[in-house]
Amino acid sequence: MPKRAAFLPQIGITLDPGAPESLQRQIYQWIRQAILSGQLRAGQRLPSMRTLASELGVSRNTTSLAYAQLLAEGYVQSKVGQGTIVGPNIPEKDHSSAVSSSGLVMSEEAPTPLSHSARRLRQKQDLPARGTGAPRPFRAGVGAIDVFPYKLWGQILARRTRSTLPAVADYQDPAGYRPLREAIATHLALTRGVRCQPEQVIIVAGGQAGFELLAQVLLDPNDLAWVEEPGYFGSHKALESAGARLVPIPVSKDGLQVQVGRAHCPHARLAVVTPSHQCPLGMVMSLRQRQALLQWAEQANAWILEDDYDSEYRYSGRPIEALQGLDNKGRVIYIGTLSKVMFPALRLGYLVVPPQLVDIITVVQRHFQRQVPILEQLALTDFLQEGHFARHIRQMRTLYKLRRDRLVEALGRELGTSLHVRVPEAGLHLVGQLPAPLSDVQIAQEAGRRGLELHPLSACYLSPTERQSGLVLGYAAYNEEEIQAGVHTLADIVSHFKE
Ligand SMILES: Cc1ncc(COP(=O)(O)O)c(C=O)c1O
Repeated sequence: MPKRAAFLPQIGITLDPGAPESLQRQIYQWIRQAILSGQLRAGQRLPSMRTLASELGVSRNTTSLAYAQLLAEGYVQSKVGQGTIVGPNIPEKDHSSAVSSSGLVMSEEAPTPLSHSARRLRQKQDLPARGTGAPRPFRAGVGAIDVFPYKLWGQILARRTRSTLPAVADYQDPAGYRPLREAIATHLALTRGVRCQPEQVIIVAGGQAGFELLAQVLLDPNDLAWVEEPGYFGSHKALESAGARLVPIPVSKDGLQVQVGRAHCPHARLAVVTPSHQCPLGMVMSLRQRQALLQWAEQANAWILEDDYDSEYRYSGRPIEALQGLDNKGRVIYIGTLSKVMFPALRLGYLVVPPQLVDIITVVQRHFQRQVPILEQLALTDFLQEGHFARHIRQMRTLYKLRRDRLVEALGRELGTSLHVRVPEAGLHLVGQLPAPLSDVQIAQEAGRRGLELHPLSACYLSPTERQSGLVLGYAAYNEEEIQAGVHTLADIVSHFKE
């Protein structure tokens, strides 16, 4: 078992292979920031360079260069017999200027009083960021946005602008446009087995905004929240921004292991799960675990946040209904996104909340966002009611299944046993596990230099000791040529690392 660097869980170093800064620079920045923010205190011991290198899957040289810079700038000291410790006289300010992630040069002399939650997020900004711009193979979590029916969408927007917008241009119901809430309630009842009244549907600006809103409503600082290990960092960020402490609960082939959560942390305030298609590993949560989770939530007076992010795309196996449909006690809050079916920049999603939460969520939404832009809500109502939505899903399901098959074939042909691929029955991505000692971080970093966009599986784990090396590969957004060429490059990279 790798030796655990005691301070790592606190500051959670995760490297972004695609970032413009070198890995050594990223390590330096994480530790420096942790010292400046007081997370690491004077006299505290850092792990050895070798331990840190093996935890992060980088070379010893990389960590030793990062430590050398921290030493030169007085952040740490090296003491015989004690290793590297945080220095007693931490420089209060770094007088050099720094470049922000948006590319702006910031003077660090400028006062920047920030909230705890912003400082936490700033520290973790080196996490593999969600890619922006045109998707490059194999960015995950995005559909074939090039084949969305934009012309039709534009016509509907124009029609609604003329016919309805003038009458609804003032502030509207923060919970969303009523006919859209009705259309979504009907759609979810038919396709996902969700049981709700339209009043329980709250329109939000995408899944992430839904998580943020729920975190505001349900969590106090230091509340405990179960999250899947590995899991989706977007939801983690929202919970952390409300001050929650995340408790990673491992997933097995049956999904989140409720018995482990009960044994280690019975009194959590909530649990976040992806029961229909675990993110990122892809398994379906078994009925037994679903029932165990519902039972725990009832006994612990806890909430369950069901993230049903890409359930529209199931290619084989039996259709999986939502956990919400099994809930008789009003413990489950269902979160849906339109990013996968429509396109991510639309920024629309919805919550289905138990009746007792409707009023408070509406009040908080009023203060949080006022409401979601109305024009897109009007157009989406027509898109759903006129059958375009269902047709688009049907067409994309066929296309994505084909693209999944192409990717699986190409990986089998070009990488063979170098990548152990689980063929997913659903969703927009697959996961391939890398045999030891191949490092997913190094492979993703090299792939970034060669025009690919790979997400290392290890970056989906909170606990360094649980990390598995693998690649999360999206397939839905890429045509056959892009898939073949991307896999060819990937095979070349992996073969170099195997030498
Ligand atoms: C697991 C998971 N949940 C929720 C979302 C919600 O995304 P958005 O904020 O775009 O609606 C995503 C998007 O990638 C996701 O991967």
